[in-house]
Amino acid sequence: MKGFKFIDSHTHILPGMDDGAKNVEESEQIIYALKEQGVEKIFLTSHYYSHKESVDKFLQRRKKSFQELKPILDQYNMKYRLGAEIYAIPAIFNYANLDDLCIEGTNLLLLEMSSPKSDPEHELNLIQEIYSRYSVAIVLAHVDRYPFMLKQKTMNKFAQLEVYMQLNLDFLNKGFITKQKYFKYIKQGYIQFLGTDCHRKTDINISKIQEYRSQLEAKLTVKELQNIR
Ligand SMILES: [Fe+2]
Repeated sequence: MKGFKFIDSHTHILPGMDDGAKNVEESEQIIYALKEQGVEKIFLTSHYYSHKESVDKFLQRRKKSFQELKPILDQYNMKYRLGAEIYAIPAIFNYANLDDLCIEGTNLLLLEMSSPKSDPEHELNLIQEIYSRYSVAIVLAHVDRYPFMLKQKTMNKFAQLEVYMQLNLDFLNKGFITKQKYFKYIKQGYIQFLGTDCHRKTDINISKIQEYRSQLEAKLTVKELQNIR
């Protein structure tokens, strides 16, 4: 073991918030499974859709859900930061301030690009627009879900905009070439965050964290692992 501390930076564990954990019992089961596999810290990143709900309304719901979950987090000694996964559509510009959606204590905004089939130029423009209006730093969620990110040229364009990137651990289940590509991106320093993006207690990824960690530790150097937060 290389002492790799894995922070799950993308989860849907807050109860009743989205298509993730349905209730606090399910949240507890997920937290138990994560803790069992050595996860010490999680980001609570419920979906936020700006065309469906105001930021204030979302924050009110999140506060209530978090109050329910807090005793469980304490019971399992699970460290956490509140956050959100923001869907990248122009409706977010209806809000003067996105600070409260950032990962707690940071200016990091976890942004989900609109579609795996979208034109990367469209996504790049939206990111530029966000940067021109708000003082946030974008973390692109699950970059492994977007086939256009497999092109090094496209990846470079995103990196040039100074966005951070998050990979879902199940990229390790993909084909050899795809997997190699993402390992290359990690080695190039493009990936700073990893996550399970876990939704339900039945998510297969939850039970495979140790296996994923072993694969990462086998392929990456200590220094490369340290580049991941
Ligand atoms: Fe997600």
